[in-house]
Amino acid sequence: DWKMDSFVDTTIKALREKIGSGKVLCALSGGVDSSVAAVMLSKAIGKQLTCVFVDHGLLRKNEGDEVEAVFGPEGHYDLNFIRVNAQERFYEKLKGVEDPEKKRKIIGEEFIRVFEEEAKKIGAVDYLVQGTIYPDVIESGLGKSAVIKSHHNVGGLPEHVDFKELVEPLRLLFKDEVRKAGLELGIPEYLVFRQPFPGPGLGVRIIGEVTADKVRIVQDADAIYREEIAKAGVDKNLGQYFAALTNMRSVGCMGDERTYDYAIALRAVLTSDFMTAESAQIPWEVLGKVTSRIVNEVKGVNRVLYDCTGKPPATIEFE
Ligand code: XMP
Repeated sequence: DWKMDSFVDTTIKALREKIGSGKVLCALSGGVDSSVAAVMLSKAIGKQLTCVFVDHGLLRKNEGDEVEAVFGPEGHYDLNFIRVNAQERFYEKLKGVEDPEKKRKIIGEEFIRVFEEEAKKIGAVDYLVQGTIYPDVIESGLGKSAVIKSHHNVGGLPEHVDFKELVEPLRLLFKDEVRKAGLELGIPEYLVFRQPFPGPGLGVRIIGEVTADKVRIVQDADAIYREEIAKAGVDKNLGQYFAALTNMRSVGCMGDERTYDYAIALRAVLTSDFMTAESAQIPWEVLGKVTSRIVNEVKGVNRVLYDCTGKPPATIEFE
């Protein structure tokens, strides 16, 4: 795509000129927007860029390692990469908290605190990178930013990081253009075509209190679900699909034993804009395979449910 070629080249040149010998800091989530923004900066200024990746312990199975494999020292790019393993810290803060809004707030605030602490260690920076894309800009322009931002960004901008200016290289792009730019830049396809994943991560896919054990359960169930959906080739039209952990335990039997374990809920939706969605019809044999694998392979689960609800009245995520 020649247009994307020239956008990428022009932007990299402009970034190089603007930043000069300045120091740049980026909060990398592993999502497509922040990844593309980071790679552009890395191509423009190399090691003047430091990316901080906060692993809050609410990522999908192996996701932290996947991000590190691409952006870390063994990875594909010239940049400084710092991975902060803050799992325990987040679990501690979330202990005993059941209210969905409180959970979101705690995760967002803690994220900012961790990021600020890392920024302090790095010292004075000149620019902060954000993967803002055009739809975010429009939302803000319509005055809805207060609501939408608290919902869509992990935690907004850090207050205690000094920088001269915000750099937003994707401000004029729509999502599909960000993906094209990502491919143009040689970012692996599994990152470029990643499903949307909320900032609070599995925190909003575990109903009620979050614990390390519940995270393990939902990660393992979700990995099985994604694997089987991909294997069956039914992922093409799905807007989003994932497993969530209900806060319900129920009675089951395993051999001669009575069990009292959790129920996993599977969700898959068709949507064009994520504002409304309908539940997708996943073939019964695929659901059967996923169900038998989850109850057999994931300790602590004895029941699997499928969510048939559209949005509205349900939301896509569970909290
Ligand atoms: P809901 O659950 O509101 O989700 O129907 C609509 C879309 O937004 C994603 N989502 C989020 N994305 N931060 C994000 O970056 C968030 O806090 C957040 N909450 C929901 C959700 O995955 C879906 O694609």
